[in-house]
Amino acid sequence: MKLGVFMLTGKELREVTQRHQEMQEQFRTVSIVGKEIEYLGKKFLVFKTVFWPFEDSVPLVENFVVRSEESVLDVGTGSGVIAIFSVYKGAKRIVAIDINPWAVKCARENAKRHGFSDRIEVRKSDLFEAIKENEKFDVITANLPFRNKVATDFVEATVWDTRLRVNKTFFKQVGKYLNSSGRIYLSNANFCSVREMKRLAGFHGFKVKKIGQKKMPGGDPRIFFAFELTRK
Ligand SMILES: C[S@@+](CC[C@H](N)C(=O)[O-])C[C@H]1O[C@@H](n2cnc3c(N)ncnc32)[C@H](O)[C@@H]1O
Repeated sequence: MKLGVFMLTGKELREVTQRHQEMQEQFRTVSIVGKEIEYLGKKFLVFKTVFWPFEDSVPLVENFVVRSEESVLDVGTGSGVIAIFSVYKGAKRIVAIDINPWAVKCARENAKRHGFSDRIEVRKSDLFEAIKENEKFDVITANLPFRNKVATDFVEATVWDTRLRVNKTFFKQVGKYLNSSGRIYLSNANFCSVREMKRLAGFHGFKVKKIGQKKMPGGDPRIFFAFELTRK
């Protein structure tokens, strides 16, 4: 029985887990030279263990606003896809961070391929660890692992977040790195706790507005969302 408009049944959740495991197997078996992925009409290279540009970030990428000359911090950058679209939208300076060293290498390579190496700086970082005390950004984007499920390596940590540690720490610290009138753009999904995300956001002083969503076709139960967060 469905418990609410966006809540999944046990059977649907098991299907989502299976889809995640299939994706993770794909991430693990990329060859040493990498694999090219086409996403929203642009090409990205992915290396082994790195999350492939995927439908989950489409509502965010299609709807987030970056005004020309603004600075952006992309948290959990993966292939660098959101950082790269930030430049296409006019961002002046982007810092892109990821905990996985292969993602760091991959995002740097994609920034170079798109001709944006001078604007995108990629750093290896567990959340904000590599962001300096006084660094602040106009926009912070994050397509984090948002499902509360135990992750045991970098591949599982692309989509699963053990006891939501990453999400909780993100909300605890993000305000420090956001300019006073700044905006945060987040992805989330119907197989995750959107209610918990909203609670964490509210507790840390942010209001939340949904700016986009995408339903997967063909009986796939997943719906992906994008949210804009601003200070209350
Ligand atoms: C769902 S993937 C999104 C990748 C990319 N932003 C995209 O939209 O395609 C989540 C990313 O968060 C990264 N990540 C997970 N835990 C992290 C942490 N504690 N600090 C920084 N990045 C993390 C993963 O390595 C992965 O690249």
